[in-house]
Amino acid sequence: MIIQNVKVTVDQKTILDGLNMSIEDIDVIMGPNGSGKSTLSKAIIGDPIYQVEGQIIINGENILEYKMNERVNKFGIFLSFQSPPYLEGISLRQLLKKIYYRRMGYQERDLSKIKEFNEELDKWLSVLGINREFVDREVNKDLSGGEKKKSETLQLLMFRPRILILDEIDSGLDIDSLRRITEAINIYYNLHKPKILIITHYNRILKYIIPKRVHIMKNGRIVKTSGPELIEEVETYGYDHF
Ligand SMILES: Nc1ncnc2c1ncn2[C@@H]1O[C@H](COP(=O)(O)OP(=O)(O)OP(=O)(O)O)[C@@H](O)[C@H]1O
Ligand SMILES: [Mg+2]
Repeated sequence: MIIQNVKVTVDQKTILDGLNMSIEDIDVIMGPNGSGKSTLSKAIIGDPIYQVEGQIIINGENILEYKMNERVNKFGIFLSFQSPPYLEGISLRQLLKKIYYRRMGYQERDLSKIKEFNEELDKWLSVLGINREFVDREVNKDLSGGEKKKSETLQLLMFRPRILILDEIDSGLDIDSLRRITEAINIYYNLHKPKILIITHYNRILKYIIPKRVHIMKNGRIVKTSGPELIEEVETYGYDHF
């Protein structure tokens, strides 16, 4: 994915301006609060409140010409939410089945695919350490912060993204949950080789998912791109130094 000269405005306020970068493999963006990291992720997925100029290119196509649902379905982009909503009356299992069936192009009533769906689901439940009852609860009803992240991870795994954007998926996770979630993402990466963009403030997650490149964002621009050694530099010196 190549991001070329991207400008993002909301309510006449410019948040990103002249942004150039690419997401090639496992890429990380770090940067101070308010620098525009989440705005970039929402511009990529196509949140309609943001006006986006420039080009975001995947497989030679400018995805800015497509609406959000087309970006999700045609280009396989998945964005994890910082605070996912409660979906009344829909169980997580029902949601996961919809996600999986739609992604695989199966008809909703096709009973012959249930076994495959259940096997895929059971595989990820065991990697994530989630019990079966959990998926029979309503989506995000009365879940703790960490449980919501596990639920999100399950959704992303069943969605089979080609481009995965993880916006602070590590915040608020205990160490065991962080290990489980990152292990699941690593297994998924090795199976399907998606492009992954990780947005984070902490190097903790980057000990489990090893990025190929690290980008520093400040004031809506990338001010430095380098290898994982940059994480150490951020930890030591903070962002002022860039
Ligand atoms: N819908 C909006 N309306 C007005 N301003 C917005 C909107 N969305 C984002 N902004 C502003 O854009 C700037 C960048 O916000 P953004 O959420 O992208 O930062 P961030 O880098 O993700 O920060 P954090 O690390 O705190 O999550 C902030 O100053 C924010 O107030
Ligand atoms: Mg953010």
